[in-house]
Amino acid sequence: MIQGNYDESIDRIANLIVDSSRVVVFTGAGHSTESGISDFRSPGGIWTRYDPDDFTLQKFLSNPESRKKHWQMLGEGFSGREIHPNPAHYAVAELEKLGKLNCVITQNVDNLHQAAGNSDDRVFELHGNMQWAKCLSCGRRYLMEEMRFRVEQGEDMPDCEECNGILKPDAVFFGESLPQDVLEESVSRSSNCDLCIVIGSSLVVYPAALMPRYAIESGAKLVIINLTETPMDTYADIVIHDKAGEVMPKVVEKVKERIAS
Ligand code: APR
Repeated sequence: MIQGNYDESIDRIANLIVDSSRVVVFTGAGHSTESGISDFRSPGGIWTRYDPDDFTLQKFLSNPESRKKHWQMLGEGFSGREIHPNPAHYAVAELEKLGKLNCVITQNVDNLHQAAGNSDDRVFELHGNMQWAKCLSCGRRYLMEEMRFRVEQGEDMPDCEECNGILKPDAVFFGESLPQDVLEESVSRSSNCDLCIVIGSSLVVYPAALMPRYAIESGAKLVIINLTETPMDTYADIVIHDKAGEVMPKVVEKVKERIAS
């Protein structure tokens, strides 16, 4: 993008935010890549290293080998390093502090929006959250920290210490229905917003990818900040193909200038 157009787009996004009263931010895995977490469909992404067909709920429940692959992938994701919010997360949290955020609807399960300062009741996690694993037999819950430790200690398929039941991360698997209450609230917020800002999503997984569509069908403006093209680019009022961690702090700085002026 030419610099002049780039700066102009940053200004225009900031103006849209200031002039809107119900801003919904919709995020995907691309929002967390600058925190060191792989996304799924970029070159080198998770689905270029693992077969998504191995990660359906049906296979996880019926096939011990699939469960081992799950915990191996999660173990790779753990890799013992701390994961922290990046500048894009802090920028979105700042929008809430400025009174310019109705909610974040996220496909991510990394808890980084909350870690950056967004209130729990303003973050809707369509695909669950990876903070807990739950026993599918007795319901006992385990912090992922504990699961991380057990996997790193060599357990290739951790089970429930209470009843030896299958432990499943709280994230939503392919073939598993989304949490109904979260989905309904996300559809409602998307259908009633006046500005939807998509950040770091390929917009190819449904029903999550319907949210920006509900927004524009209800008359909202659409902004897309994504490294690569998405199927919704042609419907957007503004598109910036650049890093979320670069763009969002600049946008929020302009919002603060506009509010202060
Ligand atoms: N800044 C902006 N965009 C980025 C960045 C970045 N730093 N890094 C990557 N991207 C873009 C990529 O170009 C890609 O288009 O983010 C998008 C990420 O797309 P996916 O990897 O498909 O992730 P996502 O859209 O969240 O996938 C949706 O698919 O596998 C399921 O459940 C999983 O929630 C996930 C869902």
